[in-house]
Amino acid sequence: MKIEFRENGPISLETGGRYLLRRDGQEEVIEKPRVSLCRCGGSAKKPFCDGTHKINGFVAPAAVLEIDENPLTVGQ
Ligand code: FES
Repeated sequence: MKIEFRENGPISLETGGRYLLRRDGQEEVIEKPRVSLCRCGGSAKKPFCDGTHKINGFVAPAAVLEIDENPLTVGQ
């Protein structure tokens, strides 16, 4: 799994084509290859980014995490 922290912006995830959203006791399957999650705290559509980071002065560095689907083993 690849997780991108956009410079001054959201957390972007590759979904593999779709994802399950659980919220307020409801489940919804959303078909999108990518999802952007708010990390500035300003979105009116949390957990999703709505672009508010562009006007609220949010500043944060870019970074990328790549997580191996296979768990790491210690001592090999
Ligand atoms: S990161 Fe985009 S609205 Fe918060």
